[in-house]
Amino acid sequence: MCKLRLEVLILFVCLSHSLSLQSEPQEQPYEIESFTFAQHWPVTECKLWTYVTHPGGSCSFPRKPNHWTVHGLWPKINRTPSGYCNDSWPLDREMIDDLEIKLNQTWTNIYKESEHYSLWDHEWRKHGTCATAHKSLNTQYKYFNKGINWNHKYSFRTMFRDAGLLPSDTKPVTPEEIVAAIKTVTKKLPMIVCETIFDVQYLDELRLCFDNMLNITDCHPVVDDTCNKSKDIIYAATV
Ligand SMILES: *[C@@H]1O[C@H](CO)[C@@H](O)[C@H](O)[C@H]1NC(C)=O
Ligand SMILES: *[C@@H]1O[C@H](CO)[C@@H](O)[C@H](O)[C@H]1NC(C)=O
Ligand SMILES: *[C@@H]1O[C@H](CO)[C@@H](O)[C@H](O)[C@H]1NC(C)=O
Ligand SMILES: *[C@@H]1O[C@H](CO)[C@@H](O)[C@H](O)[C@H]1NC(C)=O
Repeated sequence: MCKLRLEVLILFVCLSHSLSLQSEPQEQPYEIESFTFAQHWPVTECKLWTYVTHPGGSCSFPRKPNHWTVHGLWPKINRTPSGYCNDSWPLDREMIDDLEIKLNQTWTNIYKESEHYSLWDHEWRKHGTCATAHKSLNTQYKYFNKGINWNHKYSFRTMFRDAGLLPSDTKPVTPEEIVAAIKTVTKKLPMIVCETIFDVQYLDELRLCFDNMLNITDCHPVVDDTCNKSKDIIYAATV
């Protein structure tokens, strides 16, 4: 009796296993859990480029002074944590032709000696191809246009100006001041990212966090591991 039951059980397990394998779709659609919108400070990025990654190089800045530019809009997907969701969908430059004037000013490729499209190409292949799972981001035009729109909507230049927080090569900025300036407008906590160059810790990037419906949420942690909390943070005025 017991033996028979066991055999029946094994048969059942095998059957249901093969059934579930058969019914599994070939390409299961992944789900986006959340989004991060990252904007970086061109002065710090330029220091990094001209002193570290490409010594002697030069930079392109947006025309507006004190303007923060888009780094990327990054979906979080557990199944493919490293991104690159669709290798057969490369960046088609013609698709973003109409946006190029705006992209030059908002999603600026600061690193002058790099290929002009390299930042957009990288962001598209790594993150944009994953973001297409959200219907408001399912084309190259929509993906880049979202970055442009959010660069205006979440303008750190405006938030910092209104909070009286201006770049300075000597007077450090505190995480509390940064958070207050941003939270006044967004009502949510941002994430602060630093970059240390020749032993000086610079404010490099600010991130805003969103749920999978693109509603803004708090970021955790607020101060990223790239920042040493016992060191000053410089919001640099000059390269
Ligand atoms: C990948 O991109 C190609 C080209 O746009 C598209 O036809 C295909 O459906 C995409 N695959 C997935 C899984 O989204
Ligand atoms: C964008 O910037 C690049 C590099 O500065 C320039 O060559 C290109 O003409 C600009 N595109 C537009 C549409 O202004
Ligand atoms: C979240 O986003 C959806 C769609 O954009 C919107 O309808 C909804 O009101 C938002 N919810 C909150 C709490 O903001
Ligand atoms: C952080 O900065 C302090 C003060 O300069 C230094 O003593 C400490 O080693 C640094 N910590 C890390 C993890 O780099």
